[in-house]
Amino acid sequence: MSNKILKNLPPKVRIVEVGPRDGLQNEKTIISLVDKFNFIKNLNAAGLHEIEANSFVRADKIPQMKDSVELYELLKNDPSFSGTRLISLVPNMKGMEAALNAGVQDIAVFTSTSNTFNQKNINATIDESLVRIEEVMKVAASNKIRTRGYISTVFGCPYEGKTSLQELNRVAHKLQDLGVYEISLGDTIGIANPKQVTEVIEYLSKDFTLDFFSMHFHDTRGMAVANILASLEMGMTSFDSSAGGLGGCPYAIGASGNVATEDLYFLFSSMGIETGIDIKKLAVATSLILSKLNRESPSKYLKAYLSSGH
Ligand code: HMG
Ligand code: MG
Repeated sequence: MSNKILKNLPPKVRIVEVGPRDGLQNEKTIISLVDKFNFIKNLNAAGLHEIEANSFVRADKIPQMKDSVELYELLKNDPSFSGTRLISLVPNMKGMEAALNAGVQDIAVFTSTSNTFNQKNINATIDESLVRIEEVMKVAASNKIRTRGYISTVFGCPYEGKTSLQELNRVAHKLQDLGVYEISLGDTIGIANPKQVTEVIEYLSKDFTLDFFSMHFHDTRGMAVANILASLEMGMTSFDSSAGGLGGCPYAIGASGNVATEDLYFLFSSMGIETGIDIKKLAVATSLILSKLNRESPSKYLKAYLSSGH
């Protein structure tokens, strides 16, 4: 019997840590500036060198991100981040101006495949958001700022249900034409299943090389690791995750955290795939921020690791 499953695994994967932004943005307990800074510093020390640190959005909409300017000020003056990509989420020109003033070098722009979600999230249709992104990216390019793109609701929308692959293709092409260095494909509400993930990747692979994408799974229904495995099988090697599985989008009803970075660490490292993560240091980083949030992590691996050491 021939079995091709899990036979062609890559030697290493790339992990983009989104805990300080996607992870914290939905947490009710406001984390102090110094605790956020220490969280990011600890993540960097744990071997995570692409970290989404903050967002320049309306403070009344996302109160946790209200000190993004001050946070970036601390980060950019700390030499331990030399060589680390610190990414700031930017929705429009007002956010871009704040990001420029703060001196950021990496931004992420975001839109989706659902007009309803986009309206609720950023008060703009998909096409309106693409016009804003174009403006933002012109300024970014002239300031040598690198831009990552996000597409949300790729696998389903909390308001519109199933979303269109044709729309995904159109938006991905537009972001590519505008010059993003990669696109993160968001399962915003954790509704994807491995078969669907395979189909979406197969569809996109007709027009794009797979290294143009990172997979961004939320673990709302406990499917994130299965979906990551399906992505890996399809040839994807970049994944977004959040320390401790923190997170969720306030404009996606019921969305819970991103897949936990610890779960990715175990999934990959137990199969001999390098992640660059020092799990001991990551567990310290996560435990500290969880204690500030006064909450537990949903990560089964983190619980096992903390109680058994492996
Ligand atoms: P708006 O209200 O449409 O903006 O907000 P506006 O241009 O109409 O201006 C209204 C007021 O907002 C004005 O102030 C502006 O100055 C101010 P006023 O004159 O009334 O005093 N304003 C801003 N203030 C601070 N920063 C700004 C900004 N822009 C305007 N950038 C906006 C549009 C997008 C800003 C707003 O809707 C917003 O902040 N939304 C929150 C978006 C957000 O952070 N969502 C969560 C992140 S997305 C996500 O989690 C998904 C992802 O993880 C992938 C996945 O999982 O799928 C990425
Ligand atoms: Mg997200």
